[in-house]
Amino acid sequence: MKEYAVKRTGIVERYQEYLPVTDKTPIISLNEGNTPLILSEALPKELGLKGVRIYYKFEGLNPTGSFKDRGMTMAISKAVEAGAKAVMCASTGNTSASAAAYACRCGLKCFVLIPEGKIAKGKLLQAFRYGAKTLMIKGNFDQALELVKEMTKDGKITLVNSINPYRIEGQKTASFEIVDDLGEAPEYHAIPVGNAGNITAYWKGYKEYQKAGKSEVLPKMLGFQAAGSAPIVLGHPVANPETLATAIRIGNPASWQSAVAARDESGGLIDMVTDEEITKAYRFIAEREGVFAEPASAAGVAGVIKLAQKNFFKEGTRLVITLTGSGLKDPDFALSFEDPVYTIEADLDAVREAVQV
Ligand code: F0G
Repeated sequence: MKEYAVKRTGIVERYQEYLPVTDKTPIISLNEGNTPLILSEALPKELGLKGVRIYYKFEGLNPTGSFKDRGMTMAISKAVEAGAKAVMCASTGNTSASAAAYACRCGLKCFVLIPEGKIAKGKLLQAFRYGAKTLMIKGNFDQALELVKEMTKDGKITLVNSINPYRIEGQKTASFEIVDDLGEAPEYHAIPVGNAGNITAYWKGYKEYQKAGKSEVLPKMLGFQAAGSAPIVLGHPVANPETLATAIRIGNPASWQSAVAARDESGGLIDMVTDEEITKAYRFIAEREGVFAEPASAAGVAGVIKLAQKNFFKEGTRLVITLTGSGLKDPDFALSFEDPVYTIEADLDAVREAVQV
């Protein structure tokens, strides 16, 4: 039988010169990364923005459907290199899905702590199917993270939340891809903010790539929290965070300080958007652009809409919005809009009657 070489294209192989890996690092990969940068057709038109190009960095097309895979390939590879036997994370759903997938791939035990009742179904089923031991805590993400920090303190179990620096290292490669695609960094980069690891990672990536001579400019980082879970905007932790964007339902982000640094060093901002604005943005990108992202991802789009309405973006600017996860993750939310369902007879007349062009 003829054998075909399958080219491995994960982010660690692709960007190893910028990552803390050696020849001895076993690379645990699902060929994550290399996600598309999609030019928006409808949004600039809708907002009346002339000469502004908006791109979606669609991270929902990673192997487990979110940007977490970039950080997880790195964190799990380093855990295996260090001889770990088990990993653990707290999660609003995507980190747990990703940790479970990469852990099972290399035979590591995986424990995930998730807030009971506040995790999208698609994410929960991933943790189950990838075989993680799934603990639903009667509390929120912030409480889960505190528990995980305690449990991993003695080093017997490796923590794979984004306070593990390898997670940030892997996630910064999304910035590299954007610069590689555009030939230069954009003027603005908009991104949802939850535990604040990703905005930290993107900013690190942009800075490192500039230093390496890959781009001249740096973007202004625009972070968006959900209004009911906006500790960084408010300047204090939120004890009972609420938002329908459950992925970013976080009241005390672990990477708070580095998110503020990304904001300030870049000359950007961190603002908040309401659940209503998130919902509108979520529907807009699905219904008008054909890009289906989860509610938390739509927070970045909602933020851009909010700023555009205040004439924030000048002509000639380029702007990238990270869509962090797939819309398929949250079927309950997707099906909550009372879309009409037409049940008809299985005959041509019935179809003809229903199809009026
Ligand atoms: N978007 C999605 C879809 C997410 O899952 C998350 C975080 C974020 C945005 C925010 O990213 O935390 O780096 O600021 N999800 C984590 C999780 C908390 O457990 O899956 P962040």
